[in-house]
Amino acid sequence: MKYYFVGLFGLSLLIFSHTSNLYSENFGLKNFTIADSDSLILEVALKNKFLCLQKCFFNPYCLYVRYENNNCSLFTQDAIKNDLNSTNVKTVYEKKKFNFQEEEAGNSNQIESNGTCLNSSEFWSLKTNSCLPCKPGFIKYSEVLFLCYHYQSGLKNYTGSKAYCISKSSFLFKPKTKIERNFFVQKFPLQTAYINSTTNELENIFKLPIGYSFDSVYSLVIGPKGLLNDVFNYKLFNLTICQHD
Ligand SMILES: *[C@@H]1O[C@H](CO)[C@@H](O)[C@H](O)[C@H]1NC(C)=O
Ligand SMILES: *[C@@H]1O[C@H](CO)[C@@H](O)[C@H](O)[C@H]1NC(C)=O
Ligand SMILES: *[C@@H]1O[C@H](CO)[C@@H](O)[C@H](O)[C@H]1NC(C)=O
Ligand SMILES: *[C@@H]1O[C@H](CO)[C@@H](O)[C@H](O)[C@H]1NC(C)=O
Ligand SMILES: *[C@@H]1O[C@H](CO)[C@@H](O)[C@H](O)[C@H]1NC(C)=O
Ligand SMILES: *[C@@H]1O[C@H](CO)[C@@H](O)[C@H](O)[C@H]1NC(C)=O
Ligand SMILES: *[C@@H]1O[C@H](CO)[C@@H](O)[C@H](O)[C@H]1NC(C)=O
Ligand SMILES: *[C@@H]1O[C@H](CO)[C@@H](O)[C@H](O)[C@H]1NC(C)=O
Repeated sequence: MKYYFVGLFGLSLLIFSHTSNLYSENFGLKNFTIADSDSLILEVALKNKFLCLQKCFFNPYCLYVRYENNNCSLFTQDAIKNDLNSTNVKTVYEKKKFNFQEEEAGNSNQIESNGTCLNSSEFWSLKTNSCLPCKPGFIKYSEVLFLCYHYQSGLKNYTGSKAYCISKSSFLFKPKTKIERNFFVQKFPLQTAYINSTTNELENIFKLPIGYSFDSVYSLVIGPKGLLNDVFNYKLFNLTICQHD
């Protein structure tokens, strides 16, 4: 396990040495109260703040970073309450370019306010605000009303998991909200699975050498506590979860 991370950091440092200013280009400082421990998606001991910021940068689910006493904590967009009167105000890093925020569906408030389709082969579509049928082989779970899931056991690497979901006209599990992460923890205790971690955009940002695809090296998984960590994508996991909306 150790070797994966050494390798990954080595690669990351190499890439970052090409960028002039990680802080100002990619992160801003904000004073905030971290409101919700369920928005924590990773907590690791790291001796270097840059490595911590990189972890967030490469993790599309991460919007906020706190780095304190070698404790690197990554949080989703649901973390923050702008309550500067609280005694618990901390200085956190906020990622400047965060794609998930721009997606319409997946807003937590919207998800909580709406939609129950009683039939388990129908889900609540946030796009159409109506009940729609799940694709063949997929079902809607009562924990996540707005998506349909399909899962399969069998050892697969990232490419294999991704291809399997595409073959089902769907894509890999994409646990954007704590509802979805909790669902995973309850439904698949102690398991690990690849998640949607599309990183193609990074290749443009960093202008990697020709033939060197970041996507072919690094992928994200969801693990037993619902935390989202990075692994080299040749690792095999015995669970593939696909979803569609
Ligand atoms: C955050 O708060 C600290 C102490 O109250 C202050 O020195 C700092 O300027 C603030 N930073 C931002 C980005 O507002
Ligand atoms: C690290 O930060 C997380 C999130 O803020 C917190 O829950 C945890 O207790 C901290 N751990 C240590 C060892 O300080
Ligand atoms: C913060 O405290 C100030 C002064 O005590 C008060 O005027 C303000 O409304 C408070 N803000 C919030 C968000 O509670
Ligand atoms: C969805 O929720 C919104 C806000 O709570 C409400 O105005 C709307 O009527 C709901 N739509 C349906 C179809 O229940
Ligand atoms: C559930 O929905 C599916 C797909 O829309 C439909 O074929 C089926 O008849 C429904 N079942 C019930 C009990 O309504
Ligand atoms: C990730 O999700 C997006 C849609 O939100 C999809 O276009 C993309 O193909 C997915 N990637 C993978 C690897 O499943
Ligand atoms: C992933 O598994 C497939 C076979 O399912 C294999 O062809 C491919 O080389 C593997 N990729 C990596 C990065 O290990
Ligand atoms: C993968 O999971 C299935 C179903 O839980 C189990 O039967 C099988 O033994 C597992 N395979 C491996 C290699 O762990």
